[in-house]
Amino acid sequence: MLVQRDRLSELDPESVPRYPHTIMSEAQHASGISTATIEELRKRADAAARNSHSPYSHFRVGAALLLTVGESPEEKIVTGCNVENASYRLTTCAEQSAIATAVGLYGPAIRIHAVAVANLNDAASMPCGACRQTILEFSTPDTWVFYPAEKNEPAEATLTDLLPAAFRLNQS
Ligand code: THU
Repeated sequence: MLVQRDRLSELDPESVPRYPHTIMSEAQHASGISTATIEELRKRADAAARNSHSPYSHFRVGAALLLTVGESPEEKIVTGCNVENASYRLTTCAEQSAIATAVGLYGPAIRIHAVAVANLNDAASMPCGACRQTILEFSTPDTWVFYPAEKNEPAEATLTDLLPAAFRLNQS
């Protein structure tokens, strides 16, 4: 919804959707990815979060990527966790560390079909803006993101929903 700047103050904040995702039910996954695969991704993200280095925020995050490499239809799972640094801004998010690992293992032809994010803090955690842009680099028009929403409810959204009007480098 686009709203003229001078009308923003008239909006009832309750009427503006805060999140672009759908709360998932077992019966229906708009992504077409099976419940078993989503569960496996979640479990792997949760396991990765146990390796988190987060002595500053104490927010332990894990991410699991479901990806393909080049033309091969075989799907692989690669995980990562957040790695903080005493110089705070050098922190790497879980999604970014998973992507760096995946490129290190399989090269730049990886294409991300889905990303599951988990944390050990029982908090809502959708990928931050920087992570959305990082996922976009290796995304397809059908990349899905799964994450805990408020009250730990499992949510799903497309990357396009999470990052509309994304930056793309067009050099021609
Ligand atoms: N964090 C992630 O790992 N992924 C995100 O998408 C958002 C934030 C981490 C970074 C930092 O270590 C901690 O969560 C608190 O911001």
